[in-house]
Amino acid sequence: MKTAITEMFGIEHPIIQGGMHYVGFAEMAAAVSNAGGLGVITALTQKTPADLANEIARCRDMTDKPIGVNVTFLPTVNTPDYPGYIKAIIEGGVKVVETAGNNPAQVLPVLKDAGVKVIHKCTAVRHALKAQSIGCDAVSVDGFECGGHPGEDDIPNMILLPRAADELEIPFVSSGGQADGRSLVASLAMGASGMNMGTRFIATKEAPVHQNVKDAIVAASELDTRLVMRPLRNTERVLTNAAVERLLEKERALGADLKFEDIIEEVAGVYPRIMKEGEMDAGAWSCGMVAGLIHDIPTCKELIDRIMKEAEDIISNRLAGMLSGKVPA
Ligand SMILES: Cc1cc2nc3c(=O)[nH]c(=O)nc-3n(C[C@H](O)[C@H](O)[C@H](O)COP(=O)(O)O)c2cc1C
Repeated sequence: MKTAITEMFGIEHPIIQGGMHYVGFAEMAAAVSNAGGLGVITALTQKTPADLANEIARCRDMTDKPIGVNVTFLPTVNTPDYPGYIKAIIEGGVKVVETAGNNPAQVLPVLKDAGVKVIHKCTAVRHALKAQSIGCDAVSVDGFECGGHPGEDDIPNMILLPRAADELEIPFVSSGGQADGRSLVASLAMGASGMNMGTRFIATKEAPVHQNVKDAIVAASELDTRLVMRPLRNTERVLTNAAVERLLEKERALGADLKFEDIIEEVAGVYPRIMKEGEMDAGAWSCGMVAGLIHDIPTCKELIDRIMKEAEDIISNRLAGMLSGKVPA
């Protein structure tokens, strides 16, 4: 299958693994890229630009396929050394950057000069248009279903993707709620040129996270995510657990008076404890509604091959069959 995204990034299948804090290590990115998708290392999980340079080099030892790096601009307590991270990306020979969060204008000129393609992840058509206008090569359109930060507009992909298709000139991929061949065909039908997945890639054999995290995703249904930090306008979709329910109780009790300091115990620094140690009640961690569609822990290659085969079957048999007058079962 060829799309504007496979051609732009030089990948075999139009499937991207979105940046994920404490998941997007070299092992994750290499496994996805070796399976023909685009694997993405998460820059800010690396404490310093030198650590990121090292992680890119480790990934290069595991794959000779294209890889990307995610650079997230979110409110953080201490501003990261963004120019340093960008330098590590360019010097590491990485040719695709996924930006996310705030407007990436500050890093675009240097990335463009180095021939790096930039795909900006955004949750609103107006932000996608902004990304297009400042020179991003593509966008990842992240619907309300998504794990992580869905923004504050709450528009699901069934509306957001065709809206993006109507407005954008640059190619885009769907993001949020994508899991299988059905997701891919639906995304393509709505105008996307591929899909980006987060939660689905955590439940794979190669994902470098504790087995408890993978098991929690398989055990979860589509009803088990919650939106936290909405009063701070930093909404995050997470899997429910004891810490999340405690956090939500604080949000209800404090209302508009809620401050970040009130919930610091449930959100700050919890990722290593969850992802590495498997302490599933340590705090709030991003997870999409798509957990309800995840029932197994395949390798990345098994997953991607299965998606592509299912997509082909839907297009060639189910859909083409309907056009030729065959009523599907
Ligand atoms: C555990 C986890 C951590 C994430 N961390 C980041 C991050 O650091 N930066 C980012 O841009 N997106 C992050 N995301 C969002 C994903 O890249 C992707 O956009 C999202 O998971 C898509 O929704 P899905 O989970 O329904 O596939 C994270 C998602 C998860 C599940």
